Amino acid sequence: MNQEEFKRRRRFLMEAIGEGSIAIIASATEKNRNRDVDYPFRQDSDFYYLTGFAEADAVAVFIPGRQQGEYMLFCPEFDAQKALWEGAHAGLEGAVEEYGADDAFPIEDLDDILPGLLENKARVFYPMGRDSEINHHILEWVNTLRGSSRSGIRVPGEFVSLEHVLHEMRLFKSPQEIALMRQAAEVSTKAHKRAMQNCRLCQYEFQVEAELIHEFMFHGHRSPAYPSIVAGGANACILHYTDNASRLQTGDLLLIDAGSECDYYAADITRTFPVSGRFSEPQKLLYQLVLDAQLAAIEQVQPGTPWNCSHDIAIEVLTAGLVELGILTGVVSELIEQEAYKPYYMHRIGHWLGMDVHDVGDYKIDGQWRLLEAGMVLTIEPGLYIPEQDTSVAPQWRGIGIRIEDDILVTEKGCEVLTEAAPKTIAAIEALMQAN
Ligand code: GLY
Ligand code: MN
Ligand code: MN
Repeated sequence: MNQEEFKRRRRFLMEAIGEGSIAIIASATEKNRNRDVDYPFRQDSDFYYLTGFAEADAVAVFIPGRQQGEYMLFCPEFDAQKALWEGAHAGLEGAVEEYGADDAFPIEDLDDILPGLLENKARVFYPMGRDSEINHHILEWVNTLRGSSRSGIRVPGEFVSLEHVLHEMRLFKSPQEIALMRQAAEVSTKAHKRAMQNCRLCQYEFQVEAELIHEFMFHGHRSPAYPSIVAGGANACILHYTDNASRLQTGDLLLIDAGSECDYYAADITRTFPVSGRFSEPQKLLYQLVLDAQLAAIEQVQPGTPWNCSHDIAIEVLTAGLVELGILTGVVSELIEQEAYKPYYMHRIGHWLGMDVHDVGDYKIDGQWRLLEAGMVLTIEPGLYIPEQDTSVAPQWRGIGIRIEDDILVTEKGCEVLTEAAPKTIAAIEALMQAN
């Protein structure tokens, strides 16, 4: 992502909030894992979206129309000792020269400088949905200003959600963002193919996870976009399973939900395939049903279609299929009305995708499902999960969990499946797994 793109975003934000406003946003903070060891640092997506600045302990301030500069970055000063122990950091000079800040200040000076910047501003935009330390300080600064206010100084009276503006911007992906998402998708599809090919070399789920991670990193992506789910057999029925520590069993299906992160942009793919390389008959029947639902749902993805259409069609296909297989009994329309599918399909069809795997953006506007528009990216991921203990279904179905998930870009004419190179038909999966 080049600096021009960050600059464009800041310009857009300043125009959106207008003169008389100030926007304040803090970076993510380091999180301790255990004594002297931190979790790998990952910048907050909103903060990075506007700044491209990947360090902790920073605060960005935007003041449209400010003569001395509209964009201020508070960050750690350059420290040679810190550089020696922890590595490069921008310092105040770097903040201006490399990251395009109009002015940079030491983060320690925040409390001294911020009240002055709030002077004569009518509105303060800040991320209300995030419980960062700075949010608690904003009222204190306003109070400081109120306390010290000379006559004629205006104190901000409106506090507005920064997310509201920012998340609408993030929902529509620029060509550069789409290019990064394509790369994340491409590398992630390679990883899923490798997992299918090398599964028989693995004894444990986490060994398949190692194949995925190796493929991500080998292609230059430093990290997965979220903890990979590698779930054999009935583990696949646990939606957020990340233990990945069970032994693989021939005869089971393996559900893998994994995607890499490319320069802050996520891929999010799920594939489900047989450990042995061949689906059993019951596995085939259930798998084909999920695939039919997914394909029908993807067909709904085009500009002008309400977000929930793909969910509704998936439910129709799944419910009709469950009746055909004898897992549900009754009249399809009534079963849909009663949500009889819910014990087996309990999540939604997908979500926005971008810098966050569950990306930002409203799904409804004024209570109505939002219409899809070109430039949005979303996942389509129906599944079926038949609990092992569910004695109301025939034993052959129990303990099978299947999900198929792709990443879809809405285009002017319809949509593009960014992750289609990861095999998902029964024939393509079996052919790949038996090719070596
Ligand atoms: N990987 C999380 C999800 O599919 O929503
Ligand atoms: Mn997903
Ligand atoms: Mn997923």
